[in-house]
Amino acid sequence: MRASVLTATRTIEIEERPEPEPRPGEVVVRVSSVGVCGSDIHYYRDGRIGPFVVDAPLVLGHEAAGEVVAFGDGVDRHAVGDRVSLEPGVPDFTCRLCLEGKYNLCPNMRFFATPPIDGAFSEYVAIHQAFAHPVPDAVSDDAAALLEPLSVGLWACRKGAAGPGSRVLINGAGPIGLVSLQAALAFGATEVVVADVNKQRLDVAAASGATGTLNVGDTPLEDAGIDADVVLECSGVPEATTAALYALRPGGRAVLVGSGSHDVALPLMRLQVHELQVSGLFRYANTWPMAIELVASGRIDLDRLVTGHYGLEQTEEALTVGMRDPASIKPIVSPQT
Ligand SMILES: NC(=O)c1ccc[n+]([C@@H]2O[C@H](COP(=O)([O-])OP(=O)(O)OC[C@H]3O[C@@H](n4cnc5c(N)ncnc54)[C@H](O)[C@@H]3O)[C@@H](O)[C@H]2O)c1
Ligand SMILES: [Zn+2]
Repeated sequence: MRASVLTATRTIEIEERPEPEPRPGEVVVRVSSVGVCGSDIHYYRDGRIGPFVVDAPLVLGHEAAGEVVAFGDGVDRHAVGDRVSLEPGVPDFTCRLCLEGKYNLCPNMRFFATPPIDGAFSEYVAIHQAFAHPVPDAVSDDAAALLEPLSVGLWACRKGAAGPGSRVLINGAGPIGLVSLQAALAFGATEVVVADVNKQRLDVAAASGATGTLNVGDTPLEDAGIDADVVLECSGVPEATTAALYALRPGGRAVLVGSGSHDVALPLMRLQVHELQVSGLFRYANTWPMAIELVASGRIDLDRLVTGHYGLEQTEEALTVGMRDPASIKPIVSPQT
């Protein structure tokens, strides 16, 4: 099979590799769509994300969907031909955190496209059967791949307890902010304001149901008079993270989704006097069933976030288009083309 491999910083090569053999409990999936994530771009550009260093050739891509073509011993819930969305982090199933249901925090997690685990920019991948979630025909291949970032948004809403009647601020309208917007609306939030500095992305937010958009390049968040129950911080910009805490009402909840900087200043006095709750977030757990239902029923539209399709040979173009085109949101690599 062909795989698109990061062989050095800013170097992608197409390699012929053996097709994966399923181990017991695994399915082999012919990959149809893979979304490009910010983390793929970081590994491509910098060869590392914090402590995760690419020191051997690595296949990127972890937002993936495809079709089951083979399975190993003991697989009892899949048939050849099943269309599946891949949940790309497989935990050890046995540690204290896994047993508590917090498998996203498993210290032995094997996550696609995180060194040294190869990702899905290839024609075939193998994965544990429980992490290949069947999807109905109403979910397109691209949408099935994008259930992964959607899961981050759903988990953020869970963490922030966004619900019926909530007033939510989404800070940052990248793919994660935009799926968090749709997740918050699906959870019943009645006011969802989205802030960014990128006008094109704010336009997409408005078209996706945001009740308000704020260009913080024109009006700083602090001056916008926002009084939110929940802030979902999806920019990862330290100053924007601090500013977002000022948009919370007393007793409000902030979920810090955005990452990239080591330290962020917290306005301690405000946190105390207003009893603000601040939570971190690491990926997601148990979100696929809900994500599939929300997309299959039309409550959430992921196809609208797709801004381009690329064949496997064009993986590098897909990884770099965001640096050239501010209107780009979610490029998709289709490994079979
Ligand atoms: N915690 C997790 O498990 C997890 C999972 C996925 C992604 N992330 C992180 O979430 C963040 C968002 O991911 P993404 O793919 O949407 O990234 P992205 O870079 O595409 O989006 C960030 C957005 O923030 C906007 N922005 C910049 N300055 C701003 C400001 N001052 N105020 C408001 N917005 C501003 C940018 O214009 C951009 O649209 C990233 O930091 C990513 O690393 C975290
Ligand atoms: Zn575990």
